[in-house]
Amino acid sequence: FLGVSVLSRPHFLTNEAFPRTRMRRNRQHEWSRRLVSENSLTVDDFVWPIFVLEGENRREAVASMPGVERLSVDLLVGAVGEAYELGIPAIEIFPYTDESLKTPDAKEALNPDNLVCRAVRAIKEKYPDMGVYTDIALDPYNSDGHDGLVKEGRVLNDATLEVLCKQAIVQAQAGCDVVAPSDMMDGRMGAIRDALDGAGFHNVQMMSYAAKYASAFYGPFRDAVGSAGSLGKGDKKTYQMDPANSDEALRETALDIAEGSDMVMVKPGMPYLDIVHRLKESFGMPVSVYHVSGEYAMLKAAVQNGWLDNDHAVLESLLCFKRAGADVIFTYCAVEAAKLLAK
Ligand code: PBG
Repeated sequence: FLGVSVLSRPHFLTNEAFPRTRMRRNRQHEWSRRLVSENSLTVDDFVWPIFVLEGENRREAVASMPGVERLSVDLLVGAVGEAYELGIPAIEIFPYTDESLKTPDAKEALNPDNLVCRAVRAIKEKYPDMGVYTDIALDPYNSDGHDGLVKEGRVLNDATLEVLCKQAIVQAQAGCDVVAPSDMMDGRMGAIRDALDGAGFHNVQMMSYAAKYASAFYGPFRDAVGSAGSLGKGDKKTYQMDPANSDEALRETALDIAEGSDMVMVKPGMPYLDIVHRLKESFGMPVSVYHVSGEYAMLKAAVQNGWLDNDHAVLESLLCFKRAGADVIFTYCAVEAAKLLAK
């Protein structure tokens, strides 16, 4: 009523006009928000992890991952075609292996006609320009559910490396573009690089799951590939990292880079954004992040309950990976996010 707002007077405590700097000015219009936006999410950021199972014209829902299915090779090729048309640069293939094929020596991993190899060939035949990653680890084939060979209760490092090297060659022969060791054995990147080069696969890329934590968030994935039963109450703490550690992630990653990793990964994603940030700042390498099954399950469960808005929550989750420093995002949301971004 004095004709002058109390707010425009010099602030009686700081003696400054209050508030001279208004952070909200740049936020008031959509055009302005777009201009000052520091990060963006595009379809070029995605790798889509997919699950393949035996048979023809078969699809099975993964109960703990609403919207995710295991597909037989023929249907998988169709799904990959849709992803390709949407502009998704690459996929990673994980197999649901029949229990009868699982053995303590995980020998199905080395069968050039195993499910993964057949899927790679079928996809590459139809979509040669689609990037194809394959996972290197023994857990889908191992009767005890571990990523390495087990003897007297111990997961053997060096004996496992020999199998992993052969597994990499078998996958390279099938035509994959990138081998992605997720096993966390010591020395595997160097051993696999030498094995690939020795077999003439100098151009097959390697992405190490460099900072992979012994996480509770892999549960639904183990359902999806059918390794949960074999692992039982076991855990992977003797080879995957302790969630308490951060400096250790730098050492793990430095080793993988020195051994020839072309790209590195942090896994899980959302609870580990600090690690994504540190790796990007420390190494300036292409850093991938895995928005893992448990993160996906949490999001979808909340959406199903009506507690979160799916589209906003999906896009925000993925954008935050970019802000943290990730170059590549592995996500089960790749296809839906690509559709949302294309709108
Ligand atoms: C195993 C592997 C795992 C995932 C990718 N590769 C699970 C594990 O380490 O037990 C998890 C992916 C996800 O949870 O989405 N080699």
